[in-house]
Amino acid sequence: MTVDPQVLRSVMASYPTGVTIVTSQHDGQLCGMAANSFTSVSLDPPIVLVCCQRHARTAEAAKRSGRFAIHILRHDQVDHARAFVGRDAQRFDAVPHDVDANGVPILRDWLALIVCDTYSVMVAGDHEVLFGEITHCERVDAAPLLFHESALKMLPKLPALGPTAAAAADDDDLYDSLVRVLAPPIRPPRS
Ligand SMILES: Cc1cc2nc3c(=O)[nH]c(=O)nc-3n(C[C@H](O)[C@H](O)[C@H](O)COP(=O)(O)O)c2cc1C
Repeated sequence: MTVDPQVLRSVMASYPTGVTIVTSQHDGQLCGMAANSFTSVSLDPPIVLVCCQRHARTAEAAKRSGRFAIHILRHDQVDHARAFVGRDAQRFDAVPHDVDANGVPILRDWLALIVCDTYSVMVAGDHEVLFGEITHCERVDAAPLLFHESALKMLPKLPALGPTAAAAADDDDLYDSLVRVLAPPIRPPRS
């Protein structure tokens, strides 16, 4: 049975994800792209992956330099996502950043930052799967930017629930209270 690409796109668009900016550098050229195909792979060793269309400049730089970074965006960073899409986008001109000791561009603001050594790259059809072994990661407490039905979105502002509702004074508090009420923290299984 053949798969209709439009149906496949629509099916995948039904699956909500966060939004990341993947960055790397090679030969002095800073590279970065928006990517939602990010996922965790392994805890020991700590490995994540991002799927990049073949010949994406950021993936090429990650392969050549052996290093890259992934920035998970906050709900108020739509401008970051827009800056890192499109061939002629002004990418790094538009977004404050530094370059780490290994030459990897690190954005100044994010929900979470993951710095990786390139672990392996696997060709899969018209994309390449870029695996990274994490050398550093950290996060702040904030709500994520979402990508769903081909649009950038925030978590919906649902009516506050439960005993913490009164304390839900702003977006972040409301988000925290909803997460606590609707979904107690999930701990990974101990091996
Ligand atoms: C929200 C969002 C998510 C995206 N996710 C991916 C992705 O996972 N993989 C990918 O190859 N391109 C993805 N793109 C498209 C790339 O960001 C875009 O093609 C970019 O221009 C590629 O960088 P390059 O031009 O330097 O190769 C996404 C775009 C947006 C807006």
